[in-house]
Amino acid sequence: MATKGNCAMNLSPMQPILEISGLTKRYAGGLVALDNVDLAINRGELFALLGPNGAGKTTLIGAVCGLVRPTSGTIRAFGHDLAKDWRTARARIGLVPQELATDMFEPVERAVAYSRELFGLAPDKARIEEILRSLSLWDKRKERIMALSGGMKRRLLIAKALAHEPDLLFLDEPTAGVDVELRRDMWKLIGAMRERGVTIILTTHYIEEAEEMADRVGIIRNGRILMVDDKAEMMKRLGRTEAVISLASPLSNIPASLEHFAIHLENAGSSICYRGGDGTGKGRSEVADLTKALIAAGIDYTGIDIRESSLEDIFVDLVEERETEGVQ
Ligand SMILES: Nc1ncnc2c1ncn2[C@@H]1O[C@H](COP(=O)(O)OP(=O)(O)O)[C@@H](O)[C@H]1O
Ligand SMILES: [Mg+2]
Repeated sequence: MATKGNCAMNLSPMQPILEISGLTKRYAGGLVALDNVDLAINRGELFALLGPNGAGKTTLIGAVCGLVRPTSGTIRAFGHDLAKDWRTARARIGLVPQELATDMFEPVERAVAYSRELFGLAPDKARIEEILRSLSLWDKRKERIMALSGGMKRRLLIAKALAHEPDLLFLDEPTAGVDVELRRDMWKLIGAMRERGVTIILTTHYIEEAEEMADRVGIIRNGRILMVDDKAEMMKRLGRTEAVISLASPLSNIPASLEHFAIHLENAGSSICYRGGDGTGKGRSEVADLTKALIAAGIDYTGIDIRESSLEDIFVDLVEERETEGVQ
C-alpha cells in the first residue's frame, strides 16, 4: 500500500508479517498458557484464532504486544525480532484489548488523540474526527470515559487502536457481549481496515464471525495450536454431512443390508442418523444411496433432515466442548 508506512521497504511480499516460533509462556504459578506455539501470519490476511476460554488466546496476543513476557521462543514482526528490536515493530501493531485499561477520567477525544501521539504520529484532528464519527462516538467526544456505557467503551477501545494507524491489528474478542448494532459496525470497520491493507488477527469464540470473515483459521486449545488452515480448506477437509431420517415405524436394529452405511438408530429406533462424507458432496450422495437401500429393504420413512456441518461443528469436535459442557 502506497499510503501505509514503509512495509514494502523491509518486508518482501512472501515473508510473513508475523512469525512466532517455539513460543512458550509459563505463568508464575507454573501454568503453561502457551506450549511451543508456531504460527506465521501473512501480510494482509484476516486470521481468526478460535479457542475456548483459557486456551491461551489473550496470552498469545499479549506476548506479541509486549504485555506478556515469553518464557521461551521468538516472535518476529515486520522482520524484526521483538526481543531485540521492540520499538520499531510495536509502533505498527495495534491492539483492541478484551478489557478496557485506561484513565476513566479522561475525555473520549483526548484518549483517542493520545493513542496516536503515543506512537509518534503527528496530531491529526480530521483523522480523529473521522474515527470518532465512524464509531458513533463523535457526540460523546467531550464525555469522560467513566460516563460511557459498556458498548460505547468498547467503541472507544477500537477508536484508540485505529488512531495510530497500525499495519497489524489484534482484536481480542471484539464482539464478546456487544449488542447487534455494534457487532455490525465492527464487522464493517474490520472490512474497511482490511481493504486498506491492514493485517488483522481476531480472537473469538463466536465461530460465525470467523466463518463470515476469516481467510485462515487457527484453532487453539490448552496453549497448543491444534490446526491452522485456509477456512475453505478446513471446511472441505473436516466438513461432514448429517442426516436424520424419520421412520414410519421404529426399528429395533439396523438391518444387515444397511450395515455398511455410517448410521445408527436414535429416538428409540424411530430415526436413523447418518454422519459421513467429507464436505465435498460425498455425504449427500451417500444419503441418496441410503434412501434407496431403505426402500429396497422395505423400510418406510416420513422425512429426511439433511445438513452440512459448519465451522462451528468442526470447532466443537476439535476442542471436545461437548464433553466439558455435558452437551450430548
Ligand atoms: N496473569 C496470569 N497469571 C497466571 N495465569 C494466567 C494469567 N493470565 C492468564 N492465565 C491463565 O492462562 C491460561 C490462558 O489464559 P488466556 O490467555 O487468558 O486464555 P483465553 O484468552 O484463550 O481465554 C488460563 O488458564 C488462564 O487462567
Ligand atoms: Mg482471552
